Amino acid sequence: MNIPLPVALIQALSEARAVAVLTGAGVSAESGVPTFREAQTGLWAEYRPEDLATPEAFHQNPQRVWEWYQWRRDLVAKVGPNPGHDALVEMEAHITARGGAFTLLTQNVDGLHHQAGSQHIYELHGNIQRIKCAQCGIEAQGWTADESPPRCQQLGCNGLLRPDVVWFGESLPQRALQAAIEAAHACEIFFSIGTSALVQPAASLPLMALESDALLVEINPQPTPLTPRADFALQGASGEILPELVERIWG
Ligand code: OAD
Repeated sequence: MNIPLPVALIQALSEARAVAVLTGAGVSAESGVPTFREAQTGLWAEYRPEDLATPEAFHQNPQRVWEWYQWRRDLVAKVGPNPGHDALVEMEAHITARGGAFTLLTQNVDGLHHQAGSQHIYELHGNIQRIKCAQCGIEAQGWTADESPPRCQQLGCNGLLRPDVVWFGESLPQRALQAAIEAAHACEIFFSIGTSALVQPAASLPLMALESDALLVEINPQPTPLTPRADFALQGASGEILPELVERIWG
């Protein structure tokens, strides 16, 4: 494969001392995980987020919400990282080996970046495999799906268990969001990869990087609201462009 890549980007990435990467559902698309907003195939084309991804939806119909996440958990458990995830692991290894900083900020809850081997990573929207109590908030260990949803085993709690993901109307994990803001302001190059760049506050991170004079690189087969602001908008699949980029610099 020979994807034309801007020489100025290759030059900048081969010298950058601080790189931040924001990923979205598109990075996992080539692993077989559906995205959210694509017209025919996205999850939000078939389901309404307000029925499945809000605290109110869980309150009204915990069984429906639990079972939808159980379906997604099973789906994610069957797939693995793709060459896009692997290329980000390599990029991190090369940048940190020369003393640079690399921060991966993901909106994905599928854990595939961890599975691929990325190290310095913040999961902004949680992780679908982690389960917590909707009442006491404590992470549930060794829970069994005997009820739908199961109950919290903490002494005296008995609350309903839920996935440890961020629903619409909920706050992002404070530490991860703070680290993301710092990385966006400190980086020399900011990548926005496989995200529609529509969901806040993650969608503001590339703009913060621009405010701090970073180069903005977008990788996406489709244009997004961010495309006109990008210094380099690489139109295509992350599983093809990222390996090519890494190969051209460090191959
Ligand atoms: P979206 O579904 O909104 O956007 C996915 C993006 O990936 C689109 O812009 C696609 O064009 C792009 N895409 C598709 N295939 C790709 C590929 N092979 N390589 C690169 N890009 C590709 O997903 P997100 O932006 O991640 O939140 O959505 C953000 C949040 O909205 C999600 O984290 C989720 C959702 O509701 C919560 O659940 C809280």
